[in-house]
Amino acid sequence: MDLGQRHRATRAVVHFVTFYYSVHMPQELHGFVFDLDGVVVFTDKYHYLGWKKLADQHGWELDESLGHQLRGVSRIPALEVILDHNGVVLSDDEKHRLGDQKNEYYKALLQQINESDIYPGSIGFIKRVRDRGLSTALASASKNAQAVLEALQLTHLFDAVVTGNDITRSKPDPQVFLLAARRLGIAPEHCIVFEDAYSGIEAAKNAGMHAVGVGPVDRLPNAPLCITDYAEIALDDLIERGTAWN
Ligand code: BG6
Ligand code: MG
Repeated sequence: MDLGQRHRATRAVVHFVTFYYSVHMPQELHGFVFDLDGVVVFTDKYHYLGWKKLADQHGWELDESLGHQLRGVSRIPALEVILDHNGVVLSDDEKHRLGDQKNEYYKALLQQINESDIYPGSIGFIKRVRDRGLSTALASASKNAQAVLEALQLTHLFDAVVTGNDITRSKPDPQVFLLAARRLGIAPEHCIVFEDAYSGIEAAKNAGMHAVGVGPVDRLPNAPLCITDYAEIALDDLIERGTAWN
């Protein structure tokens, strides 16, 4: 074997080992990305009540099971889920008018938001993550996300914030999470997303990120792992295990 052949053989071995480790070894987690509604605050219930009021006014069916399908879905696409379910066809102008109407109902409910609306344990968990020197981002489809963070004085908990005003595509499109990762300066495979929505778990997977479902397993059958209580998360374990869940 001449020098050139030996060099090529060594390079092939190095490539194989690098590839093997990249596929089989857990990747470290550096970025913790949190959805807002239903993950950090219980504003998910106010979104549902806003849609419910609108649906009732029009005599459209909307029960809690359909309500779960609206989780994580941007405003107009969420309205379209309700319309499709009820066999109603509307013009784009009319959809925007009704979307605005629901938003007014939602904002009226936000007037009374207070600390009791914070998901128990979520803030403590985010602080533990930050104390470990890890980065945190808020990634929400809601155009009201910034207002909710400010009302509850939670903005300082996040190194980056992405809201519905920054995106053009609804979850399960990964846009919201990819933008959060970019703003953190962390590669998607080193990020883990906390999500209460089926569509949000899909979006995290589509972004190439790890995911934890916040909510019952039967609502989030697509989540690699589900929690209902942040105390269930052993942070050291999570950081060490990395991709082991996926
Ligand atoms: C998501 C909610 O966070 O934001 C959805 O889970 C909501 O229910 C979506 O439709 C868009 O929110 P907004 O406030 O922009 O209408
Ligand atoms: Mg949510």
